[in-house]
Amino acid sequence: MTLPATRLDLNGCAYGRPVQTHDAELTEVGPGTPCGEYLRRYWHPVAVSDGVTTRPQNVRILGEDLIIFRDGRGRPGLLTPRCAHRGTSLFYGKVDDDGIRCCYHGWQFDVQGRCIDQPCEPERGRHKDKVRQPWYPVQERYGLVFAYMGPPEKMPDLPRWDIFEDLPGEEKLFATDSSFSVGGDDSIKIIPWNWLQDWENTLDPFHVQVLHSTFTSAQFAKEMAVMPEVSYELTELGVRYTAHRRLPDGRELDRRSPAIFPNIISTPDVHLLAGPSTTMGWVVPVDDTHHRRFHVMRIPADSDPYVTRPRQMYTEQGRPKRWIDMSAEERQEWPSDWEAQCGQGPITLHSEEHLATSDQGIAVLRRLMRKQIRLVQDGGDPIGVTFGAEATQEVGSGNFFRPLAAEA
Ligand code: FES
Ligand SMILES: [Fe+2]
Repeated sequence: MTLPATRLDLNGCAYGRPVQTHDAELTEVGPGTPCGEYLRRYWHPVAVSDGVTTRPQNVRILGEDLIIFRDGRGRPGLLTPRCAHRGTSLFYGKVDDDGIRCCYHGWQFDVQGRCIDQPCEPERGRHKDKVRQPWYPVQERYGLVFAYMGPPEKMPDLPRWDIFEDLPGEEKLFATDSSFSVGGDDSIKIIPWNWLQDWENTLDPFHVQVLHSTFTSAQFAKEMAVMPEVSYELTELGVRYTAHRRLPDGRELDRRSPAIFPNIISTPDVHLLAGPSTTMGWVVPVDDTHHRRFHVMRIPADSDPYVTRPRQMYTEQGRPKRWIDMSAEERQEWPSDWEAQCGQGPITLHSEEHLATSDQGIAVLRRLMRKQIRLVQDGGDPIGVTFGAEATQEVGSGNFFRPLAAEA
């Protein structure tokens, strides 16, 4: 039955609503943008070490197109792609022991962009020292190649993390750039939405109860279906929540999960393995509407993650097949982080949001982030960066069962 128009409550009708916008200060990452400059004060993973070879590859990070390669002596290099001579892409270059040689006229650049050969020029380049291919510093750690894309005088230390130092002999590190956690598919490298949607999800403990535990099936441990009591705390590195649950079996669980600035997550084991987490992830912006996930995890020294991990993920999450193979209808049946975040659009429309009590983590995170962005604009150094220190940072995530003393 259709109500007569006079009896309809037409408040909230979609017609004529204001222009919907995203929060550019928190989301846009290109050079010169407020958030982009803030992010450029940190090291970011740009590739998995094993994948960086003498074959040049295109990478896009923070809205910049770059070329990554490893020279014949094993040194990784990250250069801008347009050859300093007349602009051909170094993607078509050839790499030898000393650096990358452009395909067009053979100018060769080392991993720091120095021009070391100009075969068509007198004396193979009398003035080659005057040319420098724009480049960024890189360092390798934990199986990843990290780049620093900010002002040289502000280059901080590349952090060390306690969970990846001094591993027991029966464990090794595994690094990956596959988006295990959002797509459940090891072939997805570029995730088509703004990086902040993904990173702030780590301070959203309530979606664990709904999306992952009760909306369809138990994608994680079934105990996550208990509605948690959540508290948030500021740390020296960012924000952390503790989700406290009284489990049906009488145990009490504190699940601690940090958002480490500017883009690090460390999700406690979703099957409630007790103790500190053994993984970290980096949510790295590709540009304003795409990002990548890099993860490092501790695994048994004798395991092959490429064989076991992906299959395990699908069954653990209660989904029938790989995300990439699922139909739209199947994704409606078994939505997970991918559907929830992709559903927010390429950049979510912050002007349309209604943050509520359960979004306290999101609000705290954004407030602290905005503060860092403005601090950088005012000439300061953002949270967590150190200079000339060899300190190892504490990740501080995990599943901690109470009473801790009785268990010890
Ligand atoms: S364009 Fe690269 S050497 Fe000429
Ligand atoms: Fe999630």
